Amino acid sequence: MAQHRSTRVDRLMRPVHRWVWSDFNRRVRKLLAFSEVETDGGRDILRAAEVTPDPLLRRLYLEHAIDELHHGVLFRERGSALLRARTRSPHLDSSEKWRPSGGHGLDDLCIQTESDESLLAFLHLSEKAAAGRFAIYRDVVDDDPSTRAVFEEILHDEVFHMNYTYTQLARISPASYRQRLWRARATRLWKRYVRVAAALAGVMGTTLLMLQYFILLPPFAWLAKRAAARERAGWTPIPLHRSESTSQY
Ligand SMILES: [Fe+2]
Ligand SMILES: [Fe+2]
Repeated sequence: MAQHRSTRVDRLMRPVHRWVWSDFNRRVRKLLAFSEVETDGGRDILRAAEVTPDPLLRRLYLEHAIDELHHGVLFRERGSALLRARTRSPHLDSSEKWRPSGGHGLDDLCIQTESDESLLAFLHLSEKAAAGRFAIYRDVVDDDPSTRAVFEEILHDEVFHMNYTYTQLARISPASYRQRLWRARATRLWKRYVRVAAALAGVMGTTLLMLQYFILLPPFAWLAKRAAARERAGWTPIPLHRSESTSQY
């Protein structure tokens, strides 16, 4: 069994993860979303295998890409199996909520602009984060042995990816691999901050619009109503001097 220590934050968040995975709809949605992320990551790493000048890295990237594409298939198959099982039950929810959304790791990859050093540092941190998360997910889906087995299998590969990327980074960049890792950590943190800030800005924008709607609009609505109440009902005769039109029509 693959062993990996989750971060303290992830361990603190364990009840939240358990709550998220306890709902059938969320469980399926997350599995399908993971499938997309793993498949996209696999394609990117396949591209890295094509462009690297290092023969050993090319072979390792290739194995890594095959693993990630396989993870995508495993997640998709498990999500589909759950969906099929639910379809046979009377409580079918066929709304658009099933569409996968979001990602959690390899989705920031940009192969064309990355050197092998920065790519390995980025991959090491992503795989480490994925291994920590998958270890928790494996534990919180203990009511569902098939989903648990999928996480168990994938976790084993993620730990291998986490280890080989570190070893290879130390091999090709022995003098500066620690700085590379710190730089990659800082970049991850910055991207996380930008995502949180963007989400917060969205919430603040929505709140301000709602406040405007409920605070600024009611006085105008009241004034309009009062003006309408002053109007006389029905036709209003036009004074004689105003009815003498100068228009040819
Ligand atoms: Fe993976
Ligand atoms: Fe991986």
